Amino acid sequence: MGQDLFSLAGQVALVTGASKGLGLAMAEAMAEAGATVVLNARSADTLNAEVKRLEGKGLKASAAPFDVTDAEACKKAIPAIVERHGKLDILICNAGNQHRKPLIEWELADWHNLMNTHLTSAFVLGQAAAKHMIPRGYGRIIMIGSIMSLLARPTVHGYTAAKSGLWGLTRTMAAELGPKGINVNAIAPGFFVTDMNTALVENPEFKSWIEKRVPMGRWADPKELGGAAVFLASKAGSYVNGHLLAVDGGLVTSV
Ligand SMILES: NC(=O)c1ccc[n+]([C@@H]2O[C@H](COP(=O)([O-])OP(=O)(O)OC[C@H]3O[C@@H](n4cnc5c(N)ncnc54)[C@H](OP(=O)(O)O)[C@@H]3O)[C@@H](O)[C@H]2O)c1
Repeated sequence: MGQDLFSLAGQVALVTGASKGLGLAMAEAMAEAGATVVLNARSADTLNAEVKRLEGKGLKASAAPFDVTDAEACKKAIPAIVERHGKLDILICNAGNQHRKPLIEWELADWHNLMNTHLTSAFVLGQAAAKHMIPRGYGRIIMIGSIMSLLARPTVHGYTAAKSGLWGLTRTMAAELGPKGINVNAIAPGFFVTDMNTALVENPEFKSWIEKRVPMGRWADPKELGGAAVFLASKAGSYVNGHLLAVDGGLVTSV
């Protein structure tokens, strides 16, 4: 019974930005819970290599290479996955990037790039997924926000605005889709060791700041996000809707 609560057997999940980092870790955790996972990112070769690796572990995976900033590609991706796998139960909007510059050095193009990558893509994919999920009366949509959905640091203007917007989009979608059997939630990861954070991980000052600022006193490993994704995607999360689940070692609760 306890195991069944977290089982994703028979479920089909699309995870964007799943060639590495948090997306790949969440996809792998969901595949280990029994789901067929569709990995998205921009490089087909990288995705195919990861699909092969997961299949080698006896897991079910396939690749869907496309750029999430290409709205037409996003719209086509959902019906293509439905055609390939028969349905789509779970969507995780995780693809992301970063841009750090003092405010006055920001170019408008960089702002649009951050918005398109994090926020507009989640709107377009969420809408396309909802078109498939509403008639079925079932779905789980998970937006990967950030502690920057709630807090802020200097230089990451586009990122913080996009992640805050993603939390707003989570709430409106949860309000509208909840009655239709679709749960929409967000996860707010804290500081995880991934390529996105290489500059910070390698900075000794930032490392000692993390050790003091995060109640758990350390960076997180990407594998530590898998459980949250499985929880929100599974029966265990059936009455969780419109929630922002911080996985941050306690950071947002403390100053
Ligand atoms: N790491 C953290 O501490 C942390 C904290 C809070 C939130 N997050 C969020 O978690 C998500 C994943 O971050 P990460 O740390 O795992 O970063 P990462 O290791 O740099 O991975 C980013 C992923 O997004 C994909 N991607 C980027 N732009 C894309 C696009 N236009 N279309 C499709 N895929 C795209 C990348 O694949 P390709 O480059 O191969 O396309 C890659 O798979 C992001 O939304 C990030 O903001 C991370």
